[in-house]
Amino acid sequence: MTDLVQLTSDKGIAVITINNPPVNALSPGVPEGISEALDQIAQDESVKAAVLIGGGRTFVAGADIKEFGKITSGKSRGPGLLPLLLKIEDSTKPVIVAVHGTAFGGGMELAMAGHYRVAVLTAQFGQPEVKLGLIPGAAGTQRLPRLAGVAKAVEMCVSGNPVSAEEAQKLGIVDRIIEGDLLSGTIAFAREVAGKPAPKTRERNGKLGNAAENALIFSAAREAVARKQRGLLAPVNAINAVEAATNLSFEEGCKAEQKFFMECLFSEQSKSLIHVFFSEREVAKIPDIPRQTKILPIHSAAIVGAGTMGGGIAMVLANAGIPVLLKEADQAALDRGLATIQSNYANSVKRGRFSQQLAEERLKRITPTLAYDDFSGVDLVIEAVFEGMSLKKEVFQELDRVCKPGAILASNTSTLSIDEIASATSRPESVIGTHFFSPANVMRLLEIVRGKASSKEVVATCMQLSKTLGKVGVLVGNCRGFVGNRMFGPYRREAQFLIEEGASVESVDQALSDFGMAMGPLATGDLAGLDVGWRIRKEYRHLEVPGIRQPFLEDRLCELGRYGQKTGAGWYKYDDQRRAAADPAVGELIRKWVEEAGILQRQISASEITDRCLYALVNEGAHILEEGYALRASDIDIIYINGYGFPAHRGGPMWYADTIGLKQVYDRISEFQRQHGEIWQPAPVLKQLAEQGKMFAEFGREQGATA
Ligand code: NAI
Repeated sequence: MTDLVQLTSDKGIAVITINNPPVNALSPGVPEGISEALDQIAQDESVKAAVLIGGGRTFVAGADIKEFGKITSGKSRGPGLLPLLLKIEDSTKPVIVAVHGTAFGGGMELAMAGHYRVAVLTAQFGQPEVKLGLIPGAAGTQRLPRLAGVAKAVEMCVSGNPVSAEEAQKLGIVDRIIEGDLLSGTIAFAREVAGKPAPKTRERNGKLGNAAENALIFSAAREAVARKQRGLLAPVNAINAVEAATNLSFEEGCKAEQKFFMECLFSEQSKSLIHVFFSEREVAKIPDIPRQTKILPIHSAAIVGAGTMGGGIAMVLANAGIPVLLKEADQAALDRGLATIQSNYANSVKRGRFSQQLAEERLKRITPTLAYDDFSGVDLVIEAVFEGMSLKKEVFQELDRVCKPGAILASNTSTLSIDEIASATSRPESVIGTHFFSPANVMRLLEIVRGKASSKEVVATCMQLSKTLGKVGVLVGNCRGFVGNRMFGPYRREAQFLIEEGASVESVDQALSDFGMAMGPLATGDLAGLDVGWRIRKEYRHLEVPGIRQPFLEDRLCELGRYGQKTGAGWYKYDDQRRAAADPAVGELIRKWVEEAGILQRQISASEITDRCLYALVNEGAHILEEGYALRASDIDIIYINGYGFPAHRGGPMWYADTIGLKQVYDRISEFQRQHGEIWQPAPVLKQLAEQGKMFAEFGREQGATA
């Protein structure tokens, strides 16, 4: 037997333990080990039943995701799990699967092949493959409806969301909840069922429903997918595969599932989602900051500014159990900030996200204040006052005076230099940027901006903190706009230029939302407030290079007081529910302004819209990569997916460019350069990689760059 699987026995009950830390993934060696154990059990007359259990902190959390890449690259023949599952099911001695932690993906499929499943109360069951653009590939779509019914199987395979042990028991997935020690409880269960006929999941057809009911389930599911998971292959194939379970034999159903599984596995969508999965783990690796770097304890925090961001960040910290002082400049602003926090919590309770009690506990962790007095005790301060350098410097001088040595002093600035802010203190090594995204309590992204002097401990602590807060922290360098907003500039610039050249507001947004962006660029502007960018542009106007074309439509809209959703009008008009509608008046204004500016209008295709907006993102991303403000191309992808609504199934802007092929992207950008001038100058690294036939993904790896 392999080292990954052990066989022991307890007075007639065999115990097969999977030991493949950390999550007992079904890596090569695990299925083989289980299979060998089954052979020994079959031959051992003293054994009456077998328990299959995971060692360590979980049962089997899934397949080994790296194995998928081996299949698509032809290095492996595919998931070898199906024969093992039949072998388990065909065992004449009952196999009882004991679950703690998670039985996900291949782990769930393995569990369902057992004759019985028992679990601890905290166990979870799920088929999350869809989150990687896949469907279950080892009969999960065939066995799950037989245990849990067709509707639930569809829901679980399409959403990828897990169910608790308690729900799994109600559904028929779990036969018994074990209180106390799982192994001894399972062995006791095994003694009860030993010697009795063992039910094979694949022969349990009682929950497969009838054609009329099933037709309703499948059509409702297909409609929901068309609305909520638009353009995605895996949820559609998941439905098709469960449908096959209802109208084909088990064997034929498995074949159909294989076909749908393989179609997903070889799709660009799945490759992109797997890239996102690994990239999200990669962000934590910072080449010059070793793993053993000291993490500073964060037991308490303070926020300066209780506006949109400060209030949201206070909630994020309080939700993670960190007590927080919330400071404002005056009582009225403090009251306003607190009222917003209270109403946000009340809404969450109303929507059933958490209980009243939990909301109260969280709220109690936030202590409003008007003074810096109590700041001397806190481990971390996050500043979120108005965006202006002199105000920020004043605040940091004050923080330098009142905070204890070693406290982390962070700014939530979205445009200002962290180094300049740090220069206002006597301890620049403690200063860093923590750039949250709005709404801070919802958005997963946290850009961690490393200043020239930020210490390794401070960087490592903030990276760790992002995890504690349930965020994905990405380390970026200190350039204007950092990574996300710096790239967003050219993207939104192109959106406006396209309108100046003849595209309608709606057609620009439509093309990009058809591509998969959560929202089009103009609707996004209206949501964030057009005045925000307008104020920044006015501040930086002196830096504009004469003769370089600048978009002007948004400034004109702002001059008319059209700031977006908050004023009921921007690129669109809004009713009092903030529902958008096209505004013919805007169309008229644009035509007039553009004519006055002497810009020629023409027909613009959807593909020109997506190419110009997305390649503007990509080209700026390439500059950032080359200048070292992002560590890896995949970090940029993670920023765009988690902070800007970029579709995960396209893998992020840099990955998307890699999938198109950098030669093609470079050629198209060069064409734009010929048509529109120097703002389209291709980033040198793009040119170089295109000429070498390489990808952005390779650049990060070769450089091992430091942000
Ligand atoms: P906001 O205008 O909603 O809130 C700023 C708050 O700071 C106000 O309530 C103001 O009373 C308070 N304040 C000003 N001076 C203060 C002082 N000396 N002491 C205590 N409080 C003081 O602004 P918002 O949108 O929350 O922005 C805050 C920071 O976050 C800015 O640096 C902004 O660039 C950044 N940011 C904003 C995002 C957004 O979408 N709104 C996104 C990411 C970053």
